[in-house]
Amino acid sequence: MEILIRKEKQNDYDEIREIIKSAFKAIEKDDNDFNEWTLAERIRQSEYYINDLSLVAEIDGKVVGHIMFTPLKIKGSNASYESLDLAPVSVHADFQNQGIGKQLVRAGIETAKKLGYKSLIVMGHPKYYQSFGFELASKWKIGLDNNFDSKYLFALELVEGGLEGVSGVVEYCPPFYNEKGELI
Ligand SMILES: CC(C)(COP(=O)(O)OP(=O)(O)OC[C@H]1O[C@@H](n2cnc3c(N)ncnc32)[C@H](O)[C@@H]1OP(=O)(O)O)[C@@H](O)C(=O)NCCC(=O)NCCS
Repeated sequence: MEILIRKEKQNDYDEIREIIKSAFKAIEKDDNDFNEWTLAERIRQSEYYINDLSLVAEIDGKVVGHIMFTPLKIKGSNASYESLDLAPVSVHADFQNQGIGKQLVRAGIETAKKLGYKSLIVMGHPKYYQSFGFELASKWKIGLDNNFDSKYLFALELVEGGLEGVSGVVEYCPPFYNEKGELI
């Protein structure tokens, strides 16, 4: 099975929506317009969209997986640091557990390094992300709030010392928040 990882294109958008829906349907309600598939669309329509870091996995001409990365800020008490967030990532329900997600994450990490990003943040399952070298963000005192105790927030240095001296509360780019300021 040959998997091609490439940048998403406009004529992939409908297929991508179906993939994200199929991957998240157990967790998200279809009638909620603030969900993972509308998140991808809000990101695309925003100034925070990075086409080089919006990738699809294709098998025999069919798009089966998708990943996006967006700029993220780590706000310390005296400084704000630029980082990158990984979300959302989805593999079509019929194609999961065949290594496609891993290839998308690895390709994204390599591109992010080439583009000069120093670190990457992700909220997700410990076992999955630790396999790429992510460590608990709390190690650097990076958190969703000042308690720095999230068990699901992970960070990865993309260059040696990429998070040296960096600590604070993560602030996602605006498409992640609803009008009440709540995080998706
Ligand atoms: C999470 C996801 C992107 C992984 O992609 P994938 O192609 O299915 O996974 P891979 O084949 O690359 O990796 C398989 C490994 O991931 C693990 N895995 C898959 N889904 C997982 C999940 N939801 N939680 C924890 N581990 C998971 C498998 O157990 C397997 O572990 P192993 O290598 O130790 O056997 C995909 O399963 C998916 O779309 N899930 C639903 C949406 C989601 O939860 N997205 C992530 C949050 S943003």
